[in-house]
This record gives sequence, C-alpha cells and structure tokens, in this order.
Amino acid sequence: MKTIIEPFRIKSVEPIRMTTRDERERLLKDAGYNLFKLHSDDVLIDLLTDSGTSAMSAAQWGAVMTGDESYAGAPSFYRFEAAVKDLMDFKHIIPAHQGRAAEHLLFSLIAKRGHVIPSNTHFDTTRGNIEAAGAEALDLPIAEGKIPSLDHPFKGNIDLDALAQLMSERGDAVPGVMMTITNNAGGGQPVSLANIRGAAEIAHAHGKPFFIDGCRFAENAWFIKLREDGQQDRSIKEIVRDTFDVADGMTMSAKKDAFANIGGWLALNDDALAEQARTRLIQTEGFPTYGGLAGRDLDAIAQGLTEIVNEDYLRYRVRTNAYIAERLDALSVPVMKPAGGHAVFVDAREWLSHIPPAMRWLVRSIRKAAFGAARSGRSCSAASRTAPKRPPGWTLSVLPCRAASTPSRMRTISSKCSRNSPSARMTFAA
Ligand SMILES: Cc1ncc(COP(=O)(O)O)c(C=O)c1O
Repeated sequence: MKTIIEPFRIKSVEPIRMTTRDERERLLKDAGYNLFKLHSDDVLIDLLTDSGTSAMSAAQWGAVMTGDESYAGAPSFYRFEAAVKDLMDFKHIIPAHQGRAAEHLLFSLIAKRGHVIPSNTHFDTTRGNIEAAGAEALDLPIAEGKIPSLDHPFKGNIDLDALAQLMSERGDAVPGVMMTITNNAGGGQPVSLANIRGAAEIAHAHGKPFFIDGCRFAENAWFIKLREDGQQDRSIKEIVRDTFDVADGMTMSAKKDAFANIGGWLALNDDALAEQARTRLIQTEGFPTYGGLAGRDLDAIAQGLTEIVNEDYLRYRVRTNAYIAERLDALSVPVMKPAGGHAVFVDAREWLSHIPPAMRWLVRSIRKAAFGAARSGRSCSAASRTAPKRPPGWTLSVLPCRAASTPSRMRTISSKCSRNSPSARMTFAA
C-alpha cells in the first residue's frame, strides 16, 4: 500500500502506560467485565469512540485563549455562529453542550406520542430522545446497507421508496424526516447528495421539515466528492453547503467533525421553533449565546470547523480507516464493507462468538465499543452507557480523528486482531 503521511505535526505528547496480562485480568474483574468501567489510563489503545477524543490543533488551543466568558453576547458566540453559518447557512444557530442535548431540544418540541420519525438510521441518542418523547424512531436504510459484505458507494442512503410510502400512508403522524450523515449506526456509511435531496423533496412535498444529524458532515462530503458523479471537481465546502441547503435544520455533535472535546448545536430556519428551543435551552443548558458551553469551547469549535474541510486531512482519515479494514478483511475478520471514514465495524458476534465481549480486551489492552449497548431508550439509558443487556453484535472500533492514529498503532490494531497472533491466541485460551 502507498504510504499515507499524517498531514500534521505532533508537537505535544502524553505518556501512556503498558499493562501486563495479569493486571488486565484483575482490572477487568474489578470492572465487572464492563469495558466502560475501566479507567482510561489502563487502556493502551482506546478505540471506544472518536467523540471528543481528537487532538486539538495549535490554532484551536490559541483560540481557546481568546475565549470570552461573558454570560451574554460574548464575541466567542459570534465567532462560533459565523463559522457554522459559513458551512451551513441556517437562520438560527443554538449552541448546546453535546449532540444529544441538541436532539433533546428538537424532539422534546416536535415529537409526541403517536408520532413516527423516519431516518436512514437513527443514532442511539437520537433514538433515545425520540422514544423518550413517546414517538417512534423508524429506520429505513436501503437494502444494500443491511448486507455487511456488499460493496456499495452509498450504503448509508435512506430507502426513498419506503420513505415515500410511509409519508403517503402515515404522513400526518410524521413531524419531520431525519437523515444521519454519515450513517454511524448503519456502519459508518456515507449518504449521497442525490439521496439527501430526494429525502428532502419527499418531506417537503408533504409539508414536513427535513433535518440532518450532521455529526460527520465533512467525512460524508469527502465520500460524495470521491464517489458521486459530477462532484469530483467541487470543494468540500461547496458540497457541504449543498448538503445543508435542502435542510430545515440540523443537530450536531461538535465532538466529531468540529475537532472539539465538547459541544454541539441545533440549527433551525423556523423562527417560532427556534424561539421555543431557546426558551427550553435557558431552562436546561444556558443562555442562548453559550448554551452550556464555555466561551473557549465555542472558539475551539469555530476554529475546528475551518480545519475539518481540509482535503489532505479527510483523505488521510478515510485512507487510514480503510487500511485497517482491508487488513482485517485479508485476515478473514468479518468487517463492514466498504470501510467508512471514522470507524471499522467488526461483526464480533460472528468473529469471536466463543468468547465474551470483555475478554476480547485482553488481546492487547485495546478497548473497543460494543455497538448496541445504548441503542435504544428501551434497553438501557443512552446517557449512562452501562453494560449491554443483550449480546452486542457489532464491535465498533473507532479511530480517534487526529494525531492518535499513528502507523504503529494501526499495525498493532490489525495484527492483534489476527487469530494467529500470539497474544490473540493467549486470549482465545483464556
Ligand atoms: C451520528 C451521531 N449522532 C449523534 C451523536 C450524539 O452526540 P454526543 O455524543 O455529542 O451527544 C453521536 C455520537 O456519537 C453520533 O455519532
């Protein structure tokens, strides 16, 4: 494979601790075999999530120092608002402390018992917030999206026929249509611009708003540039603008494609809904010019948004992810194909069916997320993320976006996943 060099310098390091197998056995036992209860400094390579784990850039740390902590009207808010509007030109930008807080604001206002909210696939917290409001969260992914081994350029797409049918049969019960880009719960798969436009058109034809969960909007735009006809010569920014132009609002976790350690926002075009959301924001998050965040967080997000659309970075991120997926595939590990841009999805139930999920951590102190643990408001609280109550199917191995995914880590991850590697064998014997 052609070497892909990190498009950044790492000028700050943090030591990590090696553990022995005996130590890990004890730590696991003490944690009740729940990987979420491990202390992260006992984990060598943490693939739990990309959420808020990215290294911030020097410019972001610089921006942190310019943060203004005034209760109302801080310049940090206006820099944040301008940076969001530069990419997604919604009328109202309402900051929140995380993506799920933005989802809560939206669905506590628009979703009621008897409602149904369709999506390509709702993320855990979105589903949790919809169900907490008494409504039904309905996933309508395309058929190809449900077959892990199948290659398809836009496996995250929504089934437009199924959406159209739902709208004609139960349109009155639909307060809005949602689209998650990229489709995280559907295997980190991208959604095409044509599909986004198609879904928006169906929603609008029935007089319903169209919302985007834009957590990984830049990654999605990169896949559109790579794979969708006619998009190759366009900039990421142009594709991002087109993506959100057809939407009436969005929710966002700035912990993903804004390179921030915390933050999010709800964006809306509807004045009345935005007014209600701001009122609720004051009750739950804070004044509308900080929304549960410090001014310095808003500045870190503003700067991060200017960096995420960098093509060298997106190329590096997507290629690094594909590299691991390809190596695992060559080792006959069942992975979701094609690789997405922020995580490698392994079908742990098929691959390691003979050992319990927590024991897999013994492989080499590599912590992974068990996807499905907090999938629905019904099975366990999305907020607490406790141990899964049913066996997880997919193990989500997420690459932190920036700086942490060095070549030696990538090689370690893939080699330790080999059934033939010595430490893996140790694990299988356990
Ligand atoms: C697609 C998607 N939507 C929403 C969220 C929730 O964001 P947060 O963790 O900031 O609440 C996540 C987080 O992983 C996500 O991946």
